[in-house]
Amino acid sequence: MNKPLPRTFHVKSFGCQMNVYDGARMTELLEAEGLSAAAGADDADLVVLNTCHIREKAAEKVYSDIGRLRREDGSTPMIAVAGCVAQAEGAEIPRRAPSVDIVVGPQAYHRLPDLVREAREGKAKAVDTDMPAESKFGALPARRRQGPTAFLTVQEGCDKFCTYCVVPYTRGAEVSRPWAAVMDEAKALLDAGAREITLLGQNVNAWEGEDEAGRTQGLGGLIRVLDKLPGLERIRYTTSHPNDMRDDLINAHKDVGSLMPFLHLPVQAGSDRILKAMNRSHTVESYLRVIDRVREARPDIAISGDFIVGFPGETEADFAATLALIERVEHAQAFSFKYSPRPGTPAAAMDDQIAAAVMDDRLQRLQALLNDQQYAFNRTKLNARMSVLIERNGKKPGQRIGKSPWLQSVIVEDGPAIGEMVEVDIVAAAPNSLTGVIAR
Ligand code: 5AD
Ligand code: SF4
Repeated sequence: MNKPLPRTFHVKSFGCQMNVYDGARMTELLEAEGLSAAAGADDADLVVLNTCHIREKAAEKVYSDIGRLRREDGSTPMIAVAGCVAQAEGAEIPRRAPSVDIVVGPQAYHRLPDLVREAREGKAKAVDTDMPAESKFGALPARRRQGPTAFLTVQEGCDKFCTYCVVPYTRGAEVSRPWAAVMDEAKALLDAGAREITLLGQNVNAWEGEDEAGRTQGLGGLIRVLDKLPGLERIRYTTSHPNDMRDDLINAHKDVGSLMPFLHLPVQAGSDRILKAMNRSHTVESYLRVIDRVREARPDIAISGDFIVGFPGETEADFAATLALIERVEHAQAFSFKYSPRPGTPAAAMDDQIAAAVMDDRLQRLQALLNDQQYAFNRTKLNARMSVLIERNGKKPGQRIGKSPWLQSVIVEDGPAIGEMVEVDIVAAAPNSLTGVIAR
């Protein structure tokens, strides 16, 4: 039975910030087609599950999410599976879950309106996991309706092939968006009310482009020009690879006032033997040299990272080396994960997979150390005065929550408006947030 042409939709994004960005672009696209956003998945004619494949039994989770979209009367909305699971599983998804109408990969979602029409005609399931040479970006409508903070994808994909990672397979090869496209989108975001832009890429610091004068520029050069755009008060970027931390970017942390003092630079592990097995193509030593150079340029910079425990073959001595590296670096925050074998990646076929109980124990110890470091970092800001960009309401009336330059959540008690940049005196530091009052 054919489903009616949808008039309302709901996009649900999982995973990384790039998926959040893609979800926003799909929303704008569907709105430009005349559909309106429903309150939630239960009220929508079309539900887009924008999925993540990076860890865990992601695909299994998608199937249970699909099951939950069935309504009391037995009907289902039109269902589109987008994102990285869509890319990895393709036509297998509607085979296993016949209620799925559309499968669309991360490089093809500009075709969503066409796919909706194809699904409506109901002849076959509409599947598009192509990675077309001409980019989806050109086919998407202009940016609009922004809060104070916005994401902007400048680079996508990855050629580094770390042995644990699906990203090169789901997001494709490393591609930089051209200079003019990035500038235009940044201006559109600022016109639409953004004051902070976070530049996104799986390997964002590998971004390269030609500026208006035809000179080759890296991310540092791009940031220097973005800094001059009227209305852009804060610039951030994520995620970076240690091998692509070039001088121009490091120096931008010294020279560019709007570039926030925060660096997310995943190292994954602190043992050279494991880094080699991960095909990270850097060593502990070369990573630490990068951190030293960055800190020389910007002494107060907050360092963040990602860690994987229990990579195949990881010994207790390897793990101890990871803890030692964390001790040396002193993180302001970090993300850490148990290794999860990803289908089709080289590490999934390696001998010596680590037992779940060992991973649990290592993750706990690692997170205890990282949590201590985060709390210690937050305490260094007690009694400091800092600018806070207000992003949303807090739990209590009048309370707002914003971000410090170092990406800490700051609870401000005395009610500035969302979107305001305020000077705040920090009166309390907790493990996960700061509390402040407007400076007088
Ligand atoms: N298992 C566990 N963690 C992973 N990550 C990527 N792939 C895996 C995997 N197979 C983590 C890395 C990466 C972050 C985005 O997710 O730490 O930096
Ligand atoms: Fe998940 Fe990676 Fe895809 Fe982002 S790019 S949604 S983290 S698999």
